[in-house]
Amino acid sequence: MVQHENILIIGSGGREHSLGWKISQNPLIKNIFYAPGNGGTKSNKNISIDDFENLKTFARKNSCLTIVGPEKPLSIGIVDSFEEEGLPIFGPNMEAAKLESSKVFAKKFMKKYSIPTPTYSVFSELREAKEYVKSSGGQLVIKVDGLASGKGVFVCNNKEQSMIAIDLILVDKHFGDAGRQIVIEEKVEGTEISFIVLSDGESIVPMASCQDHKNIFDNDLGPNTGGMGSYSPVPFITDELSEEIQSKIIKPTFNGLKELGISYKGFLYAGLMLEKESNEPRVLEFNTRMGDPECQSLMVRMSSDLLSYIDATVNRSLNCLENIEWKKQHSLCVVMASKGYPASYAIGNHIQGLDSKFDDDVYIFHSGTSINAGGKIDTNGGRVLSVTALGNDLKQAMYKAYSAVGLIHWGNDEQYYRKDIGSKALKS
Ligand code: GLY
Repeated sequence: MVQHENILIIGSGGREHSLGWKISQNPLIKNIFYAPGNGGTKSNKNISIDDFENLKTFARKNSCLTIVGPEKPLSIGIVDSFEEEGLPIFGPNMEAAKLESSKVFAKKFMKKYSIPTPTYSVFSELREAKEYVKSSGGQLVIKVDGLASGKGVFVCNNKEQSMIAIDLILVDKHFGDAGRQIVIEEKVEGTEISFIVLSDGESIVPMASCQDHKNIFDNDLGPNTGGMGSYSPVPFITDELSEEIQSKIIKPTFNGLKELGISYKGFLYAGLMLEKESNEPRVLEFNTRMGDPECQSLMVRMSSDLLSYIDATVNRSLNCLENIEWKKQHSLCVVMASKGYPASYAIGNHIQGLDSKFDDDVYIFHSGTSINAGGKIDTNGGRVLSVTALGNDLKQAMYKAYSAVGLIHWGNDEQYYRKDIGSKALKS
C-alpha cells in the first residue's frame, strides 16, 4: 500500500514523462507534479532542478513523495538536502551518486572490488596524457571525469583522434571543471547493453533487459548522444547471462558500497559491454538513475505497480515485494530529435501530427517540448519526442513506432531520427 497521494517528479525528459505516466496508473494517486516538466506533462511547476529550497517548500506544502529523474541534482546532493529535513525522496544520495558523477571514482571503485571493467589510467596533465597515447596502440576511449550529458565519452580509433579528444578536454576546456581529470581506457569491442536494477541498499530488483542506441547515426556511427532509441526485451540477454551480470557485477557493487559505508537507494544502471569473443560483461559506466530512453521502453512493458516499488525503496522494504512482472509484449522507442543534435539545432518549431490516429499501444512521451502562447506544442530541445510502441513481437513494435514517427514532423522537415532502432536484435 503506497503512502503518498501526491508525487513530485524532478526533470523534464521522456524518462520523467514515462515515469509519471506509469505512476498515474496507481488509483490512489491524486496529483503528479513535474518540476520543471515539458510540453507533454501536466501540472508543471516552474522550479529549476537545482533550486533545492523551492523544491523542498513545494514538496512539503503538498506532502509529496519526490522522485528524481536526472543525474545533476543527485550529484549535488538533492537527496541529502531533502532527507535532512525529513522529506521523502527517491534516489541515491550525493556520495552514492559519485558512481556516475565521477568516472575516476567509479573506476577506482571497480578496481578495488574486482568488478570487470576495461583497464584504465587517470590524467590531469596534458603532457602525460599525450605521452600515454603515443606509447599506446591508439585504440582508446577518453572520458571526462565529471557529468557531460552523455557527450563526454570519445571512442577513438587512432592516436590522432585520441589527441584531438585530449586537446578538447584539457586545452580547450570544452567541459569546464568536469574535464579537469580524464580517464583513458582500453577500447573493448562488442555489444553494449543497459542493465538496470532497483535497490534499497539490501534487496536488488532487476528491470527487464533493454538496449539503447547511443550514436546519432544509423549503424552506430557518429558522435554519442543521450540515446536515440531503445527496445525491450533483448533476445541475447538470456537468463544465464542476466544471472552472470548480477553475480559478477551488480552484487559486488552493492557489497562494495556497503563496505564503504555508502547507503544506496534508487535505480542503478550499469552500461555494459558484452565482449565480442567471450561475451563476458564489462562495465563501461555506472549511472545512478534510470536510463533515458531505456525508461520509456521499460515503463510500457511493466505490469507491476511502479509506485509500490519506489515507495518500498524509500522505506527500505523492497524485501517484502516479489520481482517486477513484465508484459510478454515487446517494446520499442524511437527518439525524434531536432536536426543538428547533438551539436546545434533550432528550437521553437511547431510540432505537427501529435493528434494523428496512431495504432493501439503507441505512446508519445515528450522531452524537449514546450507549450507556446497559442497553446500548441513547439520543439524546445535536442531530443524532442520518444515515440514508443508495444507489439506482439519486436517487428510489430518497430512497425507501430515507425508508423507513428512518420505522422509527426516539424519545421521544414527538421525532425531527425535513426531508422535502425531494434534492427540488431532482429539480426541476432
Ligand atoms: N540512455 C543513456 C543514458 O540514460 O545515460
